Amino acid sequence: MAAPRRASDNGTRSEALGERHGARGLTVGRLGVVGAGTMGAGIAQLGCAAGIPTVLHDPLPEALERGAADARRGLERWAEKGRVGEDAAGLLETADALDGLAGCELVIEAAPERVELKRELFAQLSRICGPDAVLATNTSSIPVTSLASAAEAPENVVGMHFFNPPPLMRLLEVIRADQTGEAALAVAREVGEAMGKEIVLASDGPGFLVNRCGRPFSAAALRSLQERLATHEQIDRVYRLGGGFRMGPFELMDLVGIDTGFEVAKSFTELSFGEPRWRPNQIQARMVAAGRLGRKSGRGYYDYDLAAEASHRPDDPEPPAVGGGDGMAVAILGAGPVANGLRERAREAGYELREGAPAELVVDAGVRPAEHAPGGAPLLALCADRTLAARGEPGAVGFHALPPLTECRLVELTRLPTTPSFAVEAAERFFATLGFLTEWVGDAPGLILGRSVCQLVNEAAFAIGEGVGEPGDVDTGLTLGLNHPRGPVAWSRAIGLDHVVAVLDGLWETYREERYRVAPLLRRAQTLELDLDDTRLR
Ligand SMILES: NC(=O)c1ccc[n+]([C@@H]2O[C@H](COP(=O)([O-])OP(=O)(O)OC[C@H]3O[C@@H](n4cnc5c(N)ncnc54)[C@H](O)[C@@H]3O)[C@@H](O)[C@H]2O)c1
Repeated sequence: MAAPRRASDNGTRSEALGERHGARGLTVGRLGVVGAGTMGAGIAQLGCAAGIPTVLHDPLPEALERGAADARRGLERWAEKGRVGEDAAGLLETADALDGLAGCELVIEAAPERVELKRELFAQLSRICGPDAVLATNTSSIPVTSLASAAEAPENVVGMHFFNPPPLMRLLEVIRADQTGEAALAVAREVGEAMGKEIVLASDGPGFLVNRCGRPFSAAALRSLQERLATHEQIDRVYRLGGGFRMGPFELMDLVGIDTGFEVAKSFTELSFGEPRWRPNQIQARMVAAGRLGRKSGRGYYDYDLAAEASHRPDDPEPPAVGGGDGMAVAILGAGPVANGLRERAREAGYELREGAPAELVVDAGVRPAEHAPGGAPLLALCADRTLAARGEPGAVGFHALPPLTECRLVELTRLPTTPSFAVEAAERFFATLGFLTEWVGDAPGLILGRSVCQLVNEAAFAIGEGVGEPGDVDTGLTLGLNHPRGPVAWSRAIGLDHVVAVLDGLWETYREERYRVAPLLRRAQTLELDLDDTRLR
């Protein structure tokens, strides 16, 4: 077998495809794709682009015709751009019967997401292609292990989870079922690389690696909405401007389909026998019951004008310019990335920084409350290890900003019914002079975004600790597969494990819910002051 090469070793993705076009030396000389829908057509396009003669099958003649036309059109566009040879589309064949896949060394199944249908296909494909063929599934939620047991040679069954749309998304998640052998994994990897994909390896389980680690993105947002900490528009804005996410969770849920997201959440709960972190939220059930399914139904969390292609929201505002401190004396207390980042900005904005001495404003930016905060001035307190209310400072304003502050454009603020208006104004003014937009939200450890991102880190730590995937693959998976601005391991470094664990413990203390328990690996890493990707942790 040819030694697998990583597409990234070849430089750009287009070079990888071009170089591979017509490539000999691949283990797979003929590729089969089952199901010519959204995913199957895209996968067939990738197969031809990699230079592999590819047979596309769909039992519905019109679906087969449409899928093949889509794949050919995609290849022609790539040929115009010089990314594949003119003859790439000629590598595509169609088969109206499954028998047409005889002789394929690898078959990638992208049929509808129904377990019995897929098991039947795997049994039939074993007979048609023989036990030596590698059978891959593109399922997003069915355990690959349960499909492998339907095949004649379960060790030759593997998951190849492409992301939508397959020709554009750079990630491929290869899934090892309990029965999968090394040879099948190597074939999946080799073909994925020939298709120009960045590959992450996951073991079987709910959501595999990428969708599992991405769950807190929406789940935490739904909880914040349920608790009326903020509106869905505010939550989306906070994620975009505070965390650099391209889309907020409610925009994304509308795009994917609220019914689809609800089904995924139910399947996670079923497969995990009720893991509390993965339970669906009642809001999803009510939205589905009301027929508010997202963009496709014209109404979800937002309203859409299906006739117009216009975006549903105006562009985000630019943060104010840094400046206006005017020599005012500010005490910024605490250690860690938030405190350090604020000090740097405050200096830049023209404040005079004081340590402990009388100041006109006190900012307690430590992960835990400072023991001796100077009194007599408005207090702004980081809400990390507890709520603002639990801090016992009735006049304070709470805030949370997500490091690295160099990339954060929005700071969340919270207040108590007892917070005086001069403290509210002082908080708004202070963060504006530091160049941040602000958003007032309800009181919770980590406020909206910290609560979510710390749970992203926690979920990654659970997954790494349970051997679902490697730390580097988690970050690659979430950045390339889900378009996150950085992966959870990178977030954990930017925020600091003390801060992450403080928020999670604060959530546990506030809610006493099992979903907020800290992953053992994360707790160990924090205690031992190790990085989440330190192999000594495992
Ligand atoms: N759409 C996504 O975003 C996405 C992403 C990752 C994985 N997936 C998974 O990929 C698979 C396909 O999803 P899709 O979005 O392309 O669905 P789709 O509905 O667009 O396409 C499915 C195709 O399968 C065909 N089909 C029906 N019965 C069949 C049979 N017995 N044998 C072969 N083909 C049959 C249908 O005619 C249709 O063309 C599913 O398992 C899904 O979970 C989808």
